[in-house]
Amino acid sequence: MKFFLDTAKVEKIREFAQLGVVDGVTTNPTLIAKEGRDFQEIVKEICEIVEGPVSVEVTALDTEGMVREAREFSKLADNIVVKIPMTREGIKAVNILSKEGIKTNVTLIFSPNQGLIAAKAGATYISPFVGRLDDNGHVGMDVVGEIVTIFKNYNIETEIIVASIRHPRHVVEAAKLGAHIATIPFEVLEKMFYHPLTEKGLEIFMRDWENYLKNR
Ligand code: E4P
Repeated sequence: MKFFLDTAKVEKIREFAQLGVVDGVTTNPTLIAKEGRDFQEIVKEICEIVEGPVSVEVTALDTEGMVREAREFSKLADNIVVKIPMTREGIKAVNILSKEGIKTNVTLIFSPNQGLIAAKAGATYISPFVGRLDDNGHVGMDVVGEIVTIFKNYNIETEIIVASIRHPRHVVEAAKLGAHIATIPFEVLEKMFYHPLTEKGLEIFMRDWENYLKNR
């Protein structure tokens, strides 16, 4: 399973990339806005740190505007993926961009049918938002499971990015279902490294080793 970092925080991307666990990055307008820096500067910096796909979202709502932004974004770096919202205008844009060889990530997917439509239009990736579904009383992972089954049934090549991840268990569930990618906030990725028994175990090993050295 591939891990993407779901952030626009350059220093966090650098930190986790050094650990060899970052296969790509996803951003969105909210994450970029939080940084309060020049958009293009952030995107270029991220694309220099990470070799894998870096998703950058359009803000136009009409097909023409989305296509224009997508063409501009794709000039920023070779690993740019253009994030397009799951709307009719967005799907029209995906259809045009896929024919131009521009990679797309259809975002704000909340149902299997939306995923299927995005894939048919030629999306490289789709992003079902599990956390936001859970927040609204649904089981986000059920949607992921259905999409995985449908894509397997028809050998659909579009990759599934499980997005809106809230906790480490979401990552385990996504992996068990066979989703290609989890895009993970750094706070969640941080938690995935730790287990209290690992810390306790290490403490015991170190204490026993010190006693051994003293009593030798
Ligand atoms: C995905 O690409 C989105 O950036 C992200 O996962 C949204 O997550 P949120 O629901 O925590 O905002």
